[in-house]
Amino acid sequence: MIRPKVYVTRIVDDEAMDILKKHCDVTAWSGTDPVPPAELEKNIAQVDGLFCVLTDKINKKLLGMAKNLKVISTMSVGYDHLDINEIKKRGIRVGYTPDILTDSTAELTIGLLLATSRRLIEANTAAKVGHWQTWSPFWMCGIGLKNATVGFFGFGRIGQEIARRLKTFKIKEILYTSRSAKKEAEEIGASKVNFNDLLKHSDFLIVACSFNEDTKEIFNMNAFRNMKKNAVLINSSRGGVVKQDDLVKALEEKVIWGAGLDVTTPEPLPPNHVLFKLDNCVILPHIGSATTDCRKEMSALTANNIVAVLNNQQMPSELHL
Ligand code: NDP
Ligand code: DGY
Repeated sequence: MIRPKVYVTRIVDDEAMDILKKHCDVTAWSGTDPVPPAELEKNIAQVDGLFCVLTDKINKKLLGMAKNLKVISTMSVGYDHLDINEIKKRGIRVGYTPDILTDSTAELTIGLLLATSRRLIEANTAAKVGHWQTWSPFWMCGIGLKNATVGFFGFGRIGQEIARRLKTFKIKEILYTSRSAKKEAEEIGASKVNFNDLLKHSDFLIVACSFNEDTKEIFNMNAFRNMKKNAVLINSSRGGVVKQDDLVKALEEKVIWGAGLDVTTPEPLPPNHVLFKLDNCVILPHIGSATTDCRKEMSALTANNIVAVLNNQQMPSELHL
């Protein structure tokens, strides 16, 4: 019997590889860096299944070379790196990893929020370089969550889990903006507002939306000018939601108080980028879902999605196009 062929674009854990190898002939890019486009193009021509990650741009040109491709499974919940229209046209199925990374990403976002609002990185650096001379009444003061209005732009799986956790910080209220009203909002105690009201009233504004044509650069100077001067912006969705040059200006000119970013444009953000020089900005290298258990679960699910399609079974986690 001819076994289906699968290409894996990154080194993943043994469990995921074993799942694939049990059913398929597997070729894998052996680097920790993204597979070069030419290498991916060469391999996509041969395979029935593709295991990819969010740095792989699955575009029209690449899909045009994929003669036998039946399934693309991405080790991520975000799928903005996939040309969904082209994939749909070609009848290729898509797998992704929602839910299992929600808790890890919510935890990280809260860590990032506290690191930004309580100036943890700045304070740690100050202590290390000898700027901690004595306890001082107003040194390294930040902004507290108690009595704060916390706004969410995007209130899906991750946004809601962040909100549930933040309630224990004695915040005043939770606002959210999304396309549709969320049935979970009542239990969480969150109120749906329009974008302008979200900007106007939020002390903390957490970006937890997906990246698409409508959310692209929606956080621009116009938005920052409508925010409170003391507002803290936290983005753990995608860098492209923020117009980054405008954010630099807004932070330099104190249009808003601070920003914490787990995602940037580009990724990686060059170490000499001006954002790294700003004390009121905390940058993390896209580690929202980065706990070992979560990444293992994500890679196993990504593999299982492929195997299911190639064995004519129901995908454990299909993105319905
Ligand atoms: P969900 O699909 O559950 O939530 C996405 C939310 O974005 C929904 O509330 C949706 O609203 C909202 N949204 C989309 N477009 C718009 C718009 N134009 N205006 C207002 N709201 C909009 O996804 P998850 O919560 O699981 O994940 C969210 C994103 O987080 C992912 O797409 C990914 O990019 C990012 N992510 C980042 C991680 C990291 O490591 N930093 C880890 C995991 C995810 P509606 O439902 O009404 O359409
Ligand atoms: C995703 O899943 O979309 C994240 O960005 C990485 O886990």
